[in-house]
Amino acid sequence: MKIKSVVAALALFAGASFALDAFAQAPIIIKFSHVVATDTPKGRAAERFKDLAEKMTKGRVKVEVYPNSQLYKDKEELEALQLGAVQMLAPSLAKFGPLGVKEFEAFDLPYIFPTKAALYAVTEGPIGKSLMQKLEPKGITGLAYWDNGFKVMSANKPLHMPADFRGLKMRIQSSKVLDAQMRALGANPQALAFSEVYQALQTGVVDGTENPPSNMYTQKMHEVQKHVTVSNHGYLGYAVIVNKKFWDGLPADVRGQLQQAMADATKYEKAIAQQDNDMALEAIRKAGKTTIYNLNPQEQAAWRKALLPVQKQMADRVGQDLINQINKATASVQ
Ligand code: LMR
Repeated sequence: MKIKSVVAALALFAGASFALDAFAQAPIIIKFSHVVATDTPKGRAAERFKDLAEKMTKGRVKVEVYPNSQLYKDKEELEALQLGAVQMLAPSLAKFGPLGVKEFEAFDLPYIFPTKAALYAVTEGPIGKSLMQKLEPKGITGLAYWDNGFKVMSANKPLHMPADFRGLKMRIQSSKVLDAQMRALGANPQALAFSEVYQALQTGVVDGTENPPSNMYTQKMHEVQKHVTVSNHGYLGYAVIVNKKFWDGLPADVRGQLQQAMADATKYEKAIAQQDNDMALEAIRKAGKTTIYNLNPQEQAAWRKALLPVQKQMADRVGQDLINQINKATASVQ
């Protein structure tokens, strides 16, 4: 009887310590939510980050990637991050206005970045860093800038000159700079969540939109847009962000490994972004439903004339000082 109860006590102890072990080893979960398809620069880099993070932390961290607005749409995902329902996002820089960080909308200014090198001079330098710091009081830590690319415009009619936009309902992201941009072309901007764009184009709720080709192609927008103009009038990129409390609460070694995983995933993302967009534009052409038009020099000049005043017009919103700093940084690499 005595032996039996000793055995039982030992078994109980073993069970408890096994449970404790399992608890101690339960992985830290990072839910990474985003709104685009997996087969995009952002989608592929999120997967790459997951692989690297899990490998570098030797399984102490598990990253769950939720693409295509599966968990949350644009506005909700930022709220979910702040509440800690998800830990990581990579919203486009055009989507931080509703959070009260209007400065990121400087990235939406027409023609502000003549080249990718000019863009990197901003994102990888002190300007990029100080912009990320503006997220801290919102309970958010910025980890990296990810690339997409320069935008094209689309509609069901040819868009060669600014006058072609007159009266068109154009979908935009929730950025006041993009609102001003569309108005400068004589269009009526309409802010919609990314997940709603295809249907809005299909049903005529909006007539047209803008995005880099990779987003257009992977959402099948080209199937409901007869004309695409390669205008390169503006840029779309991302800030990879985490819930600050979650990030600060990680064991220091794990945080370091995740920083390394993010640095490597970022390098990868930048290497594939342009190529993905070139391939997507080619795929749109091949699908045969959309005419792709390249602006000639006179048309380009007319677009610039219509859109450049937006930089001045929006100076109060994003900060003239910031615009000056960006211009100075980009001038050095032109
Ligand atoms: C959009 O809403 O058009 C883009 O921000 C989507 C994305 O994340 O690339």
